[in-house]
This record gives sequence, C-alpha cells and structure tokens, in this order.
Amino acid sequence: MIPHLGQKLLYLSRSDVASCGLTMTEIIAALESMFREKGEGRVEMPPKIGVHTMPDAFIHAMPAAIPAQNAAGVKWVGGYPANSRRGLPYITGLLILNDPETGIPISLMDCTWITAQRTGAATAIAAKYLARPDSATVGILGCGVQGRSNLEALKTIFPLKKLFAYDTHPDRAARYAQEMSEQFAIEAVPVPDPKQAVVNCDIVVTAGPILRQPHATIQPRWLVQGAFASLVDFDSYWHPAALHEADKFTTDDVPQLYHYRDLGYFQNLPPIHADLGELVTARKPGRQSPTERTIACNLGLALEDIAVAPLIYARAQTRHIGTCLNL
Ligand SMILES: NC(=O)c1ccc[n+]([C@@H]2O[C@H](COP(=O)([O-])OP(=O)(O)OC[C@H]3O[C@@H](n4cnc5c(N)ncnc54)[C@H](O)[C@@H]3O)[C@@H](O)[C@H]2O)c1
Repeated sequence: MIPHLGQKLLYLSRSDVASCGLTMTEIIAALESMFREKGEGRVEMPPKIGVHTMPDAFIHAMPAAIPAQNAAGVKWVGGYPANSRRGLPYITGLLILNDPETGIPISLMDCTWITAQRTGAATAIAAKYLARPDSATVGILGCGVQGRSNLEALKTIFPLKKLFAYDTHPDRAARYAQEMSEQFAIEAVPVPDPKQAVVNCDIVVTAGPILRQPHATIQPRWLVQGAFASLVDFDSYWHPAALHEADKFTTDDVPQLYHYRDLGYFQNLPPIHADLGELVTARKPGRQSPTERTIACNLGLALEDIAVAPLIYARAQTRHIGTCLNL
C-alpha cells in the first residue's frame, strides 16, 4: 500500500536519490526487463516534446508507462551545453512518479543521478548484444558525468583492462583517468588526441555535447573491425562516412530517432538494423561475427527513467530517505 496516497508525496533530493544505493547491476536488470516489454509492445511512450530556450539546449518532457513494472511518470529534464562554463551541470531536472492505478503523484525526485546511471546502463545493454564479449580496451571521449556512468556500466559486463580518455579540457581527462583507475582497477591513460581514444579500442563511447550540426571528428577507419561504439552524444562526433562503415547500426527507439531527424538532427545515418527491444527479444540478431563494426545510438528514453524511478522510491521508503510533502 502506498503511504498517504493522495495526501502526501515523497520528495527525494539529488543526494537522497544517490544515497538510495541502487547498484548499476540492478539498473541494467531493470532496463533489460523494460526493453523486453518494449520489444513485446507492452509499454507506452510518446516521443519527447520540449522547449528550446538557448542554442543547442533543450528542456524535454518525457512521459512513460510500463505496466509490468507497475511504473508510470514523467521526467522534465534540461540539457544546456553552456552550463559547464558557469560551473553548472549539463543535465538537470525532476521526475514525477505516479501511482499507475489512480494517477496520483507519489514521488517527486531529482533526475540527474537517474539520467546518468540509466544512460550508462543502456550503453551496457547495447554492448552486451553488440560488442565482443572479450572486449578489454575502451575509449571514452568526453570525460564528464556520462563518461563516468558509461564506464561503470560497461565494467559490470566486460573484462575491461585499459582505458583511453580524451576530453577537450586535458585537465578533465587527467582527473577522470586518475579517478577511474582508482575506482575500477583499470589502467587509464589520458590522451591528447581524440584519434588515440578510438583506434585499437574494442569499445568506444562518445559523450561530448550534442550538436545539430556534427563536428564530425571521427574519421573512417578509426573505429577498427570488431569494435563497438556507443554514441551518447548522438552523431555529433562522427563523420558520416565513419558511421556508414557500421555493419550494424542500432538505436533505442526508431520513432524517436525519426522525430529528432525531423528536428534537424541525424541528417546522414546508415540504415537502422534494430532497436534495443528487438535485440533483447531476439527478434533481430546482435553481433554475428568477431569482425563486425557495430554502433548503437541510444537517444535516452523516458522508459529508462520510469523503469528505474520505482526502484528508487521503494528503496527510499525502506531506508526512510526523503521528505514527505503535502499534495
Ligand atoms: N543519449 C542519452 O541518453 C543521453 C543522456 C544524458 C546525456 N546525454 C548527453 O551526453 C553528453 C554528455 O553529458 P554529461 O552529463 O556527461 O556532460 P558533462 O558536462 O558532465 O561532460 C561533458 C564533457 O565533455 C567534454 N567535451 C566537450 N566537448 C568535447 C569534445 N569535442 N570532445 C571530448 N570532450 C568534450 C567537456 O569538457 C566535459 O568534460 C551531452 O551531450 C548530453 O546531452 C545523452
């Protein structure tokens, strides 16, 4: 029974959410179950709508419902590339969790931590189906929040031994490499040139700013045969000819990708092999040979946030975390 249904909701601040202690393994499992439901057509998620108050920035409304996970709600999330110059986070926002039976809001929580962790988890799920299981070297381009959560998630699945870290701010790459080597017992090398974080890597994650007009730094043949790449920052980092080298190009939701394309993103993509629901339900094959180049461009789905939020809510209740507010 939900406590005080219709009278109070549970407010969870950023640190409350983080202190619930949900593990990356739990988040990956929740997302994989959700993608199975999505693949079976048993979820609801309209494409994102949003407002855009600054160039290359967004505030998106992201509603979703997953009946099998007793989950419904909406995330209201901003992404502002210029924030880092003010010492503010790129991604900020709130999530409202609703009781699916009555529609009544039961929790309001900061969504920064969930956004970071679920995006890393989505990379790991794509990689589980598309990367070589023996992948040992990883290149991270963009050593911020996503650089950290994506590595954490990949480390739960792959025997990663060596990390190449590139950031346009070399001090951030150096700090990141130091932190990651301590946290994950991995050899971590900051590199001064983006190419060094792509060539010879089994797994590559690009996590810089999302730009409508790609800067297209990554050139053909940088991503080697047999490698997998996760494009957390859409196609911003990739020359179209490099993307077209992919043997399999996937996304998390095709209608959403087309929606972005209509808004001016993704003007030159290879054909889409599958979405994550199709990979998880084996409707479409994942990697079929050790030499394929595979690329996943996960856009980030409301379904991912709404799959995680009920777990945070339940854990917060068990641990008496958060503040009750009157409705
Ligand atoms: N696809 C998704 O589901 C999803 C979800 C959340 C965030 N994102 C995107 O991920 C990206 C990173 O978000 P974040 O929260 O980690 O931001 P962040 O500000 O914490 O980190 C970004 C890092 O990228 C660096 N950077 C900037 N330009 C670069 C470049 N050309 N090459 C390498 N590094 C560069 C910055 O110095 C910074 O260290 C953003 O574009 C964000 O919109 C995607």
